Amino acid sequence: MNTGSDAQIEVRECKISDLGKSIGDKVRIRGWLYVKNTVGGISFLRVRDSSGIVQVVVRREKVGEDVFEQVDKLKRESSLIIEGVVKMDERAPGGVELGAESLRIQSPSLEDYPLRRELSSNVVWKYRHLFIRSRIMNTVLKLRSSLSNLFRKWLLEHDFYEVNAPSIVTAATEGGAKMFEVKYFDKKAFLTQSSQFYLEGAIFSLEKVFCFQPSFRAEESKTRRHLSEYWHLEVEASNMDFQGLLQMEEDMLTSVIEEFYNKHKDEIKRFNPGFKPFEKPFKKITYTQAVELLKSNGVDIEWGRDLGVREERMVATIFGQPVFITHYPKEVRAFYHMPDPENPSVVLSADLVVWPYGEIAGGGQRIDDYRMLFERIVESGYNPEDYAWYLDLRKYGSVPHSGFGLGFERLLAHILHLPSIKYAIPYPRTQTIVYP
Ligand code: 4AD
Ligand code: MG
Repeated sequence: MNTGSDAQIEVRECKISDLGKSIGDKVRIRGWLYVKNTVGGISFLRVRDSSGIVQVVVRREKVGEDVFEQVDKLKRESSLIIEGVVKMDERAPGGVELGAESLRIQSPSLEDYPLRRELSSNVVWKYRHLFIRSRIMNTVLKLRSSLSNLFRKWLLEHDFYEVNAPSIVTAATEGGAKMFEVKYFDKKAFLTQSSQFYLEGAIFSLEKVFCFQPSFRAEESKTRRHLSEYWHLEVEASNMDFQGLLQMEEDMLTSVIEEFYNKHKDEIKRFNPGFKPFEKPFKKITYTQAVELLKSNGVDIEWGRDLGVREERMVATIFGQPVFITHYPKEVRAFYHMPDPENPSVVLSADLVVWPYGEIAGGGQRIDDYRMLFERIVESGYNPEDYAWYLDLRKYGSVPHSGFGLGFERLLAHILHLPSIKYAIPYPRTQTIVYP
């Protein structure tokens, strides 16, 4: 029953980005003080919440002497609850402003906010817990959340199951030198470099699987493309051969990135005006062709040496788009890669390289034969006992299978043209950054 009692109607809570839909209404916002400027008896506050920024006009006569004096002393980032009437104002950012009728200081900042506009990079890393409040990081983190959801959505729609793999493991997948040891267990244990082997185990139950979780690399990380802990999107499927893998990777990436781009065109363009969604089919060249191409461009490289970021970037620049480099020499790839039946000195592997980050995804067809895998483990200098459970997968109903791993921060940093992948993650971990 409608009692008709207007006085009891609650003031509506509103996100700042929605204020434009409430012109003339009285609303309540909750946010943090961004900038303050007092002229005469009026304070102009810029207040931010997760959705945006709005100018709030605070008049002495509206909010009272006490509150006005407190507002005048407020430091940046103080948290506020403000009720007021939304007005159109073309000069204001966002096209609206809020005329405060009441203002509550939830918690005043106790000290001057340590982050100013002129940020030296050291300050950014030390105050990372505060830096993520910045407008730039607010947008990057929203885009990151959206992109990971779009990958999940695509994979689930294509009948992949999400599987969770352990972070603490007992053996290397990508070479023992880059492992973080965890001292606690009876056995030697490490933080995982990749969940691939666990996904391989899961395909025998679920057939098509993926995971999105951190991988850990104790490697030289003073570059703009290395983190000690990064988010790894890994996909694995049974009865998928090498060609099927390339097709799947291409379909997923083009479709997810197109959807991402269409959804967030304005933000993406603000970061990277020249960005164009990936187009099918991707360029593909073999490692051997890449070496020839690099040599003809004056690069000093011999067949058999792995490609570094300089070479990968050059290949991506020559083609002007993402490129699959395939069929690497088996010596420069991990032991689990399937040798090419037509030329066993190379393996059925593919790295996707882009400008400027180089490799953003790597994968291939896996060895599915017990004997062959056993021999490759020995040849590569590892102890087959450390891989007993992984070898088991080839003992009980082995099937051809393939998969890949995508460095999520590298892809996001590429799309947004960020100066380092450290900006693509809220709390980066590198050799020199473990705090906060
Ligand atoms: O090429 P990687 O080492 O391959 C693997 O780990 C496979 N087991 C993946 C698989 O097939 N399931 O790593 C895969 C991707 C790279 O292409 C790169 O994008 C990213 O992970 N990556 C890193 N990203 C940030 N920081 C690091 N230190 C990275 N190392 C690799
Ligand atoms: Mg790789």
